[in-house]
Amino acid sequence: MILDGTLDASVQAAALALQQGRLLGLPTETVYGLAADSDNDAAVAQIFTAKGRPANHPLIVHVADAAAITRYAKEVPVFAQQLIDAFWPGPLTLILPRLPEAAKASTGGQGSVGLRCPSHPVAHAVLKACQQLNPPVWGVSAPSANKFGRVSPTTAEHVATEFGDELLVLDGGACEVGIESTIVDCTRGVPVLLRPGAITRDDIEHACGMKPLSKEELSANTPRASGTLLAHYAPNAKVRLMEAKQLQAALDILGKDGKNIAIYHRSPLKAPSAQLLLRRMSDDPRNVARELFGMLRNFDDWGAKLIWIEAPADTADWEGVRDRLQRAAAAG
Ligand code: TXA
Ligand code: MG
Repeated sequence: MILDGTLDASVQAAALALQQGRLLGLPTETVYGLAADSDNDAAVAQIFTAKGRPANHPLIVHVADAAAITRYAKEVPVFAQQLIDAFWPGPLTLILPRLPEAAKASTGGQGSVGLRCPSHPVAHAVLKACQQLNPPVWGVSAPSANKFGRVSPTTAEHVATEFGDELLVLDGGACEVGIESTIVDCTRGVPVLLRPGAITRDDIEHACGMKPLSKEELSANTPRASGTLLAHYAPNAKVRLMEAKQLQAALDILGKDGKNIAIYHRSPLKAPSAQLLLRRMSDDPRNVARELFGMLRNFDDWGAKLIWIEAPADTADWEGVRDRLQRAAAAG
């Protein structure tokens, strides 16, 4: 059931549902989440079941404000505090050392917890209302509201399509950011970028004065992050990433064929076939992030068997989009 998330009554109903251990489709500025009370292990277990997600992939705990961190994290390093001051509320998740009794099922018992304070007004209203309940709900665990490995949802309809009418979904409109939050591991003395997103590595360096390491620069036993599995965010069609020249060459070879092929390109192209579905990519990575997952879904709905995408530039501002596209391509 989809409720209008801008209504007070819907927000209250959603907070109560969470308190009672039910799942909720929650809009955030990045993507829609499948939410449950972080400290209710049975409710959190339902998230894993509904998504088909392996239990060893920890969930992000969403909080209403930075003050709520003390319910979950043992300590906050100086550079992590600087990132909080700069980017919360917003699309940034921090991995911090966990308090032993907090969010056990959500973290799979790991010594760390992922925390994020979303800026979406509906998410914020729900998290605030949760804090004011008796007993309060301090944190809400929410992975993206899609089946494991599939494309993340950026509208309430995407969530309802994936999980059916049983699930209570708050409609907060189309997500502004469109790709999942940037994840920074703050448990290693220096920031480590686990998942790129709208907040770039340059933004992070600027805010805390430290260059974030890539996870590749770390040794083997990094915590698991499902957003970091190579094959992820997969549409049904096969995705191929190509440089502009390569893409034009492939089209030239294709000639008048091109049935069930969708193209998402940034550079001008000569398309020899009228059967192709052509979509032009914006020059602004923020616009591309916003429409990306919806675009992949539309290509699937159109009946695409192949999706050919022009590879974005190898620069920090495109890193989040490039990462999602590489994973989508790896899945095929
Ligand atoms: O934008 C987002 O972050 C969205 C919205 C709903 O807030 N949520 C989201 O959740 O993308 P999910 O579960 O799809 O991705 C969470 C990522 C996973 O890759 C998970 O493994 C990682 O965060 N993560 C969570 N806690 C962690 C921890 N303690 N250590 C390492 N990685 C962690
Ligand atoms: Mg996800």
